[in-house]
Amino acid sequence: MTILVTGGAGFIGSNFVLDWFADAATAGETVVNLDALTYAGNAANLASLEGDARHVFVHGDICDRALLDSLLAQHRPRAIVHFAAESHVDRSIHGPGEFMRTNVTGTFTLLEAARGHWSALPDDERARFRFHHVSTDEVYGSLAPAAPAFTETHAYEPNSPYSASKAASDHLVRAWHHTYGLPVLTTNCSNNYGPYHFPEKLIPLMIVNALAGKPLPIYGDGLQVRDWLYVSDHCSAIRTVLARGRVGETYNVGGWNEKPNREIVHTICALLDELRPDPAGPYTRLITHVTDRPGHDRRYAIDARKIERELGWRPAETFDSGIRKTVRWYLEHADWVAGVQSGSYRDWIRTHYGNAP
Ligand code: NAD
Ligand code: TYD
Repeated sequence: MTILVTGGAGFIGSNFVLDWFADAATAGETVVNLDALTYAGNAANLASLEGDARHVFVHGDICDRALLDSLLAQHRPRAIVHFAAESHVDRSIHGPGEFMRTNVTGTFTLLEAARGHWSALPDDERARFRFHHVSTDEVYGSLAPAAPAFTETHAYEPNSPYSASKAASDHLVRAWHHTYGLPVLTTNCSNNYGPYHFPEKLIPLMIVNALAGKPLPIYGDGLQVRDWLYVSDHCSAIRTVLARGRVGETYNVGGWNEKPNREIVHTICALLDELRPDPAGPYTRLITHVTDRPGHDRRYAIDARKIERELGWRPAETFDSGIRKTVRWYLEHADWVAGVQSGSYRDWIRTHYGNAP
């Protein structure tokens, strides 16, 4: 059997593909991995799969309908797991166009190709087919400090071009189920962290900058709250929903781990002080407060009781165990970090923070 993964060279997608082959329940199944290799996609994440016949990498775009049709006809996947997206809020503020193209038009194109493929399948394959859409908690907007965490029925109130484009894609997925009967599953997950995280997002940026002796830029007062989940827990949640989730349902996925950004940065500094002490002094000396993000959501928090109640999924990592693994991974993979700090990475850092590395 085969699944088609989109965006499987990005942060979560590559962890998902690696974990898929590491899990005995799924290890025997081929993964066709379609990725456009944008700045965020990195074939090096999948280097350990080189020569492995179970992994078929295809360099291409989810907006390319002809390519999608030919891949679906050739490989006849039993499921599509859709990660491909533009995913960085700050980039969506500087340039929203690409977010509309990939996240909205790309998801629409993929849904149409999936519908064509699914409706022509024989009955047994048709009944088994799933379209799993990977989405975010950011579609629900921002929570007041004491408000209850997001449930699956929380109103959609996206505030950034990124979250608006993901909300639009969620609505398309829902409509393709209700109108055409396409067997969809959607997961809305909180902030992930872990290996292969592109170092323009908070956690890897802070690790990489600290090790280089560069400023650690906290937006505004740093009291914005996110609900952090170790990436392999997100991957296990997706495998669980794909295997046993109820068709047409959405499942919120989170780590029960709400933390303000300031605390995250202090935790990273303390771990680095322990694991790679800097003779110049504690890493917290590098913390700087910079201008806040426009429209910055104050708090996200996931109520993950539905996926636990219905499917028995809970995260395996605590924040303490996950962040320690993550810091160690970055310390042991300086070559990977150097590889992704290309010209376009440096251009982004210069555009966004105004200080060339
Ligand atoms: P990422 O930016 O690291 O990876 C995205 C991948 O998609 C890259 O490999 C990129 O090359 C590929 N891609 C982009 N446009 C494409 C296109 N037009 N055609 C084919 N491939 C394309 O993102 P990520 O952090 O791994 O997120 C993956 C998914 O999970 C996204 O849908 C995101 O919205 C969702 N999500 C992310 C988080 C998080 O904390 N990172 C949390 C919840 C949900
Ligand atoms: P990010 O990793 O971009 O994820 P998201 O915005 O999707 O939640 O940012 C996580 C939090 O960290 C968010 O509140 C913004 C904040 N942040 C900083 O304070 N400084 C930074 O340099 C970055 C990249 C993010």
